[in-house]
Amino acid sequence: MSTPVLEVKNLTRDYVSAGGLFRPAKVVHAVKGVNFSLEKGRTLAVVGESGCGKSTLARMITLIDPPTSGEIRIDGGKVDAGHVTREMRQKVQIVFQNPYGSLNPRQKIGDVLAEPLLLNTSMSAAERADKAMAMLRKVGLAPEHFNRYPHMFSGGQRQRIAIARALMLNPSFLVLDEPVSALDLSVQAQILNLLKDLQEEFGLTYVFISHDLSVVRYIADEVMVMYFGDVVEHGTRDAVFSDPQHNYTKTLFAATPRTDIASIKERLARKAALAAAG
Ligand SMILES: Nc1ncnc2c1ncn2[C@@H]1O[C@H](COP(=O)(O)OP(=O)(O)OP(=O)(O)O)[C@@H](O)[C@H]1O
Ligand SMILES: [Mg+2]
Repeated sequence: MSTPVLEVKNLTRDYVSAGGLFRPAKVVHAVKGVNFSLEKGRTLAVVGESGCGKSTLARMITLIDPPTSGEIRIDGGKVDAGHVTREMRQKVQIVFQNPYGSLNPRQKIGDVLAEPLLLNTSMSAAERADKAMAMLRKVGLAPEHFNRYPHMFSGGQRQRIAIARALMLNPSFLVLDEPVSALDLSVQAQILNLLKDLQEEFGLTYVFISHDLSVVRYIADEVMVMYFGDVVEHGTRDAVFSDPQHNYTKTLFAATPRTDIASIKERLARKAALAAAG
């Protein structure tokens, strides 16, 4: 078997909230010992209720927050939490639910995309601009968008920009934390399709965090269910959806309305065909 892109062992994260005069300090065990490994080109979906530790896990594997204990390996290399190298950092990228917060309002999109290259490579300005332009097209935006500012884009377009920026340095894997939750359904489908297309073209590996099981069903190869900081179930998408084992998973699945992303996709394709014909 090839080396997994991402491997985590017994990963934990505690948060200690400072106490007050009448309040003792409290420890929250946000993530309690997570284990998994992920092969190149696959999508692992992480699901579970609000507060179960999904984003905490995301911040650890993208090297934003150090774990309290446990081990992270990226492309087989062990991460030293006390000394995260620039090379390691380049291997992991994250896309958030609301990319607006991380886009500088005064920076043109072309510069947003070229910036990682400026900071991490010795490419010339012309090379950087070329690569940024190529990525802009890859995510379905147009050349004239290059010189526009973030506020001139829709939510879906901004998410395309965030994805493009995340891919500029050819990361080993991409963590997507609720990337489509703030978007309209039809736009959700477009972004999910874009992610699938990019995955196919570049062999990308995704950790995809979502509340929405219909989205998970559409995008995931594997599903990991978290509950109060623990992983209570992990299996292939088909296994977990057709025969959830854990009581919590059964309840979670029963409580979720099904939006049929496949039918939205078909409708969009029909619309596009009509537009092309007319
Ligand atoms: N910086 C922090 N300081 C203290 N506690 C935190 C911090 N970040 C998260 N927590 C706590 O850790 C637990 C897990 O939070 P986390 O944000 O990982 O959940 P989540 O599964 O991403 O939830 P959501 O679906 O709402 O995004 C929660 O109890 C949360 O209050
Ligand atoms: Mg979260």
